[in-house]
Formats: sequence, structure tokens, C-alpha cells
Amino acid sequence: MRIVLGIESSCDETAAALVREDRTILAQRIASQDEAHRPYGGVVPEIAARAHVERLAPLIEATLADAGMALDEVDAIAATAGPGLIGGVMVGLVTAKALAMASEKPLIALNHLEGHALSPRLADATLAYPYLLLLVSGGHCQILLVEGVGEYRRLATTIDDALGEAFDKTAKLLGLGYPGGPAVERLAATGDPRAVPLPRPLRGKPEPHFSFAGLKSAVLRARDSGEYADADIAASFQQAAIDCLVDRTRRALAVAGTPTALVVAGGVAANKAIRAALEALAAEHGLPFTAPPLPLCTDNAAMIAWAGIERLALGQSDPLDVAARPRWPLDPGAEAVRGAGVKA
Ligand code: KG4
Ligand code: ZN
Repeated sequence: MRIVLGIESSCDETAAALVREDRTILAQRIASQDEAHRPYGGVVPEIAARAHVERLAPLIEATLADAGMALDEVDAIAATAGPGLIGGVMVGLVTAKALAMASEKPLIALNHLEGHALSPRLADATLAYPYLLLLVSGGHCQILLVEGVGEYRRLATTIDDALGEAFDKTAKLLGLGYPGGPAVERLAATGDPRAVPLPRPLRGKPEPHFSFAGLKSAVLRARDSGEYADADIAASFQQAAIDCLVDRTRRALAVAGTPTALVVAGGVAANKAIRAALEALAAEHGLPFTAPPLPLCTDNAAMIAWAGIERLALGQSDPLDVAARPRWPLDPGAEAVRGAGVKA
């Protein structure tokens, strides 16, 4: 059975994993850089790239040691080649190239979004194509119809901020620290979701795209007005975000044909209120609702190794001169949207 070493370094997680064809994660390690970026309230690309340089090689060694394996026993090396912060992507890709060259194993240069798109299949062998994937994290906010390996239809993207980013910015405005999603969710649980009138950007629009920048500005105005308690602002923000997410996903379901399931992935999928709302939406459409376990939902290397296994099984690999790509749309055929592409 094939075993692939996966490497992920496109944002602020340095990660390595060994995954076997039968979906066993033999070992995985993740070094988060939250501490390094916390003082800035967001990921600083230069700090991230340096941290990847320092951490990646020892992390790969430790991952191999955890599995009791030598590089020779691996069938291929898979790494994120984009989209993402280019400094970090290059660190991971160059490392993968060096390992592939030294071990004479195939290199698989992957789109990070493909890792997310296929991760539900690592968690669930029974998940059949096509499934509708809502990918919501600090860097991504997309709805993808996953029709097969390499066959992704992007039905929606954000025209400005990603949803996780909106959570992080709201947290910053309320002085809750970074990363903000979990803190906003905790505070929201103690507030009134109807207390603050906030907009639902793009609600009702025929195209299922997202927009969260206006919501963030409205949160800023609400806070500056001094009229509302922080908990009410957090709760109202979260409710507005949920209303947008549900409305936009409902719209995507209307144009998606007949998917087998609604799947949510990305760091924001940790939010219990959001999961509950999406589960209700799926039930409304008679669809199963699933989310990969959280460690597979957020940025990780197991999903990269798994996507590598899927590609390898199709006989695919990449030349050693393959380039890192800061921007790399998963669905090149998708219509460009104003503002889209900026954040992959
Ligand atoms: O997937 P992820 O770990 O990294 C990328 O951004 O790619 O996602 C992190 C994002 C952050 O923006 C964080 O605030 C958000 O996911 N997040 C949440 C929650 N937990 C994490 N947002 C809302 N509610 C949560 N419980
Ligand atoms: Zn990601």
C-alpha cells in the first residue's frame, strides 16, 4: 500500500504527515505559529516564512521517527505549491523537491485548496462524488462542487474578506485577541443576537458569492456608538454571519444539481452555531451533513498527503522544476469575481 509524506506551509501552520492508502494517518505533526503572530492580530508573512524555515526540517524528521519510517520507505513526497503566502509555500515546496531528489521518489505539487476539497474523503471512505463543500477559514471562503479528483467547480467565493477573517477582525475590534473565532463564539453565547442591527451582505443575490467587509464596518460603527454591550455585538455579528452563510449555501444548493452531501471544512467549521445552522439547511434538502474531524478541517499536512495519494493512484506526479504559485484558482473556469483571487 502506498504511503505519502505530505508537507504544508502555505499559511501559519508548519505541518508534516505520513498517510497510507487505506486512510491510516501513520503520523502527523503540526507546529502552529499563533504565538508569533498574536501581537499583530493576524499572520505576518515574513514572520511566517522564517518560522517555516526553522521548523520544517526537524518536523519532518520527527514525523518519520513517530511512524518508525525512513524516507526510503515513502512512495512519494507531496507538498502544497500554492495558493498561499509565497515565502512559506516556497519553503515547503523546495524542501519537498530536495527530499524527492535525494530519495528518487516522485514529487507531487498540490493546490492547497485541493487538499481541503479532498480531506472529507480521507475522513470518510463512503463519501461519494459529487459533494458540496463549504470551505470557510481565515484564508478561504468558497463553495465547491467536488466532482472527482481534479474536478472542482467553484460555485462561490468571497468578493472581499473570508469569514474567519471577519471573525478575527470582530475579535480585534472587541479586544478579544487572536485567533478571534473561538473568542467571538464564546462571547456570542452570552449575548442577544437581535440586539444590534447589522447588514446581511449579498443576501438574496442570485450568484451565491460572499461578502463580509460591510459587516465588519457595521460592527466597527456599532462598537464606536457605545450603545451596545460587547456580548450583544458578538452575538449579532455571529448571527449575521450565519444568516449570510445559510442564504448563500442555500443558493449554491439550488444550482449544484444533486450533490450527495453537504460538507463543511476550514477553521470556522469549529463554530457550533454555524454547524447547527448548516446541519438544519442540509436536513431541509434531505442531504447528509458532515464535517471532517477538526484537525483535518483546519490547515494540516494529512490532507496534503491524502490528495497526494489520490493523485499518485491516477499515475500523476510533477517535475522537479514545478513553480510555487501564490495564486492558483482550483477551478480556472470559474468566472472572475470583483475582489476575488486576492485571498486565493
Ligand atoms: O483553517 P484555519 O485553521 O486556518 C486558515 O485560515 O486557513 O482557520 C482559522 C480561522 C481563523 O480565522 C479563526 O478565527 C476561525 O478559523 N475560527 C473560528 C472558530 N474557530 C476558528 N471562527 C468562528 N468560530 C470558531 N469557533
Ligand atoms: Zn487552508
